[in-house]
Amino acid sequence: MKLEKYAEITGWGKCVPPAVMTNDDLATFLDTSDEWIQSRTGIAERRVSAVGTSKLAQIAAENALACADLDPSELDLIIVGTCTADEIIPNVASKVQKALGATGAAAYDLNAACSSFFYAMHNATAGIRTGMHKKVLIIGAERLTRILDWTKRESAVLFGDGAGAMVLEASDEECGLLASKISCDSDARDVLALDFGLSFDRYNFDGVMDFNFEGQEIFKRAVKGMSAAVEDVFQQTGMTMDDVDALIPHQANKRLIDFLAKMCKVPEGKTMLNIQKYGNTSSATLPIAFAEAVENGMVKPGDTIVSAVFGGGLTCGAGIIKWGKRVKPLRNNQKTLEGNGQSALDLILPLHQGAKEALAKRNRKD
Ligand code: ACO
Repeated sequence: MKLEKYAEITGWGKCVPPAVMTNDDLATFLDTSDEWIQSRTGIAERRVSAVGTSKLAQIAAENALACADLDPSELDLIIVGTCTADEIIPNVASKVQKALGATGAAAYDLNAACSSFFYAMHNATAGIRTGMHKKVLIIGAERLTRILDWTKRESAVLFGDGAGAMVLEASDEECGLLASKISCDSDARDVLALDFGLSFDRYNFDGVMDFNFEGQEIFKRAVKGMSAAVEDVFQQTGMTMDDVDALIPHQANKRLIDFLAKMCKVPEGKTMLNIQKYGNTSSATLPIAFAEAVENGMVKPGDTIVSAVFGGGLTCGAGIIKWGKRVKPLRNNQKTLEGNGQSALDLILPLHQGAKEALAKRNRKD
């Protein structure tokens, strides 16, 4: 098939909730420490949302649209990458479509766990390059603090809430996602799992959501999957790391990012890192990282960027992205979410208490 157009990134934006949870806050109710968390993961703090995923998605989307100076009525597709939808039905994307007034846009959610945003970018780019779509809004949004098991220190300390978005528009300039590879290592489906979907028995629910998280196995599989995907996109384009200006990866763990950067031989200072501020926000890490990399000057006009992601499934992906000529927003894209007066601990302690009580009830039954 002849590809006519490119899918230029014309808008970018984020929304991070105002309530900050530090590692010391976590250590007030979990047997953990700032030293352990920082040395194993690079995370210093994360955000906790008092509102649902769709509200975070909406604000990130408004910022991306302002950046592109695009009226929502011009959008023909909205894809929301998320594994923490407010409801099972209807989807988050339709709620965002309604809130934005983007009545001409089709709207669907995509769940590839932490890889969802990159999967959305892959699909949206394909849609634009084949001429099926012209202006697409892609979002990664998560409220992970609502699905974590707050009694499990090994996973509870890793994640946070947030959202990021991009506007992609058809363009004749050679830019946007130029090559991509997505994959899934389903043999490892169970190493990162939360069984709370349609197989869930709502009449016999004991209040405990079993969150299976095998950190070391995820690490190994993630490195293997991301390296293979990066290799694939280099082969597709004939590029090497010498042609690349920056690495913007999924932010799951600093040690993993350092490993990837070393493997790809990325020069010092060319890897985007913001996990220290937000933890792992799953599908939101990539668009937030892109928005901040452009804001802080790491991404310059015409730069070539490599991205790599992995998530539950285990899904993986990598892409080569060429930035367009513009790195300045056309309108202000810094709208923020107002707090509701509650601190991060105010929001999380009732969940921790609830999880403890549900577990005690299950143990009494056993
Ligand atoms: N605070 C203090 N101690 C802890 C904590 C904690 N929060 N969590 C675990 N420990 C303890 C363990 O109980 C264990 O103690 P023991 O030696 O007495 O048994 C010890 O620390 C070591 O535990 P490990 O699980 O072996 O720790 P590891 O060095 O593997 O680090 C981590 C855990 C950071 C999760 C690591 O496995 C990792 O980097 N995994 C990569 C995957 C990842 O980060 N995924 C995140 C998101 S998944 C995604 O994005 C798709």
